[in-house]
Amino acid sequence: MNMTQQVRQIWKPLVFLLCLVPALLIVTDLLTDNLGSNKIEAIQDRFGIWALRFIMITLAVTPLRQVSKRNWIGLFRRMLGLFAFFYVLMHFLTWLILDQELNATAIADDIVKRPFITIGFIAFLLLVVMAATSTNNIRRKLGGRWQLIHNSVYAVGTLGVWHYWWQVKKDISEPLIYAIVLVVLLGYRVWRKKR
Ligand code: HEM
Repeated sequence: MNMTQQVRQIWKPLVFLLCLVPALLIVTDLLTDNLGSNKIEAIQDRFGIWALRFIMITLAVTPLRQVSKRNWIGLFRRMLGLFAFFYVLMHFLTWLILDQELNATAIADDIVKRPFITIGFIAFLLLVVMAATSTNNIRRKLGGRWQLIHNSVYAVGTLGVWHYWWQVKKDISEPLIYAIVLVVLLGYRVWRKKR
């Protein structure tokens, strides 16, 4: 078995299961009443932070592949990106169904009047477009436009960190860590392009 086959048949299914662990932990914490007094906020926050982590992990794939010169690392990129979408979707649905209770006026109000939600919503829409165009078939059909669409992952990362930063009340140390990671990951790309 060569490395590509090994990744496809062994490592990808294992990483797939690993990516589900944060969601399973949220569900078990809910079932065992381990989410504190504000369950909805806790569920939403946990999905949100994992969404941001998966965006960062996905952005790290290409630099890791290039620096290590191990091309097989790239085989994980689409799966990790789709997991980022999955966690954002769960974060969004928690807000939409449990927090806003599907009240259309409250939803529109929140999106328009709370800038940190506007930003999160734009990032979410960009991820929807990327997820919808992630199959090989569509990629082939779109040709050069596919890369253009998928370059919006850089905007998604930036908007995601900004969204997190904006809703933190006092201690900005955690969003700052994500901002630094983002600057390194995007800075690497600028540096490489210049070189
Ligand atoms: C790429 C898209 C998004 C990312 C990466 C993201 C990430 C996050 C993160 C990391 C937090 C803070 C969690 C914490 O305090 O530990 C958060 C909070 C929040 N997000 Fe998002 N989010 C995104 C999109 C959205 C969307 C589309 C909505 C709703 C339309 C939304 C609504 C909220 C709300 C209401 C909070 C505050 C929850 C609270 O009261 O603690 N987010 N988000």
